[in-house]
Amino acid sequence: MSTQALFPTLVYTARLRGRGWQALNARLLRECRQLRADDAAGRRWSARNYSGGYTSYGSVNRMHRLSPTFAALARALDLRVARFARTLAFDLTGRALAMTDCWVNIMGRGDAHGAHLHPLSTISGTYYVATPARSAGLKFEDPRLERYMAAPPRLANARRARAPWVLVAVSTGAVGCSRAGCGTRYPPTKPPLSASASASITAGFSALAAMRPGTVNPYIEDALHDGRTLASARVRIQQPFSVRRPRSEAKET
Ligand SMILES: [Fe+2]
Repeated sequence: MSTQALFPTLVYTARLRGRGWQALNARLLRECRQLRADDAAGRRWSARNYSGGYTSYGSVNRMHRLSPTFAALARALDLRVARFARTLAFDLTGRALAMTDCWVNIMGRGDAHGAHLHPLSTISGTYYVATPARSAGLKFEDPRLERYMAAPPRLANARRARAPWVLVAVSTGAVGCSRAGCGTRYPPTKPPLSASASASITAGFSALAAMRPGTVNPYIEDALHDGRTLASARVRIQQPFSVRRPRSEAKET
C-alpha cells in the first residue's frame, strides 16, 4: 500500500539578481508612478474595478511593448518562466511561451486584492517593484478548492503542501508564478498600519504558450481519444496566433 502525490500544484518563486537589477527596478518604480499620473483612462477604470488602488490592466496592459524598461523586465521574467516551464515538463515543441500582457498595479496602504486568475494565460505571475513594510506576502490557493465540496479543514500542523492556501513572503525584486488556474490574492499589509505605510507596486504578467504558424495542431492525443484518425487531427496552424481580450472584462489582475 502506498500514497502517491499526483497532480501537484507547482509554484515558482525567484528574485531578480545580478548586475543592474536595482537600477532596472528604480526605473520601473518611476515609470509605474508616472503611468498612474498620466493614465486618466486607467484611473477611471480602476475607480470602477480596482477598489482603492490603480491598475493599468484595463488601459495599458502591454507595457513590455511600450516601454524599454518593461521590455527589459520582460526579458528577465521570460527566462524565469522558461525555467518554470521546464519544471512543469511542458512540451513546447512548435509553441512559443511568451509574455502577452504586462500591467501595473498600485495598491494603497491597507488595500487588498481578492482571489483572481489571469485569463488567456498559460503562466500567471507577479513581479514586486515595491513592497511595503510588513507586507503580508502573496497568497496562492489550491486550484481545486471548489471541487473539495466536503473537505474538512486541515490540521494546524499539516504540512505546507497539504494546506488549502499558502502565503509566500515577498520583497522588492521578488517574482511569483503559477500555472494559470491557480488562484492568487494580494492580502493587505499586516497591521498596525503606520501613517507612512507605502504602497505595494507590482507588475502583473501573463505568458501564453501559443502555436507557431506552420506547426501541427497539438491536440492529436485528444483526437485519438475521440476516435478520430491521426490524419484528421493534423490541422496546420495557418495564421500567426493572436489574442485579444475584451476590454469589458472584469478586472482580474
Ligand atoms: Fe494577478
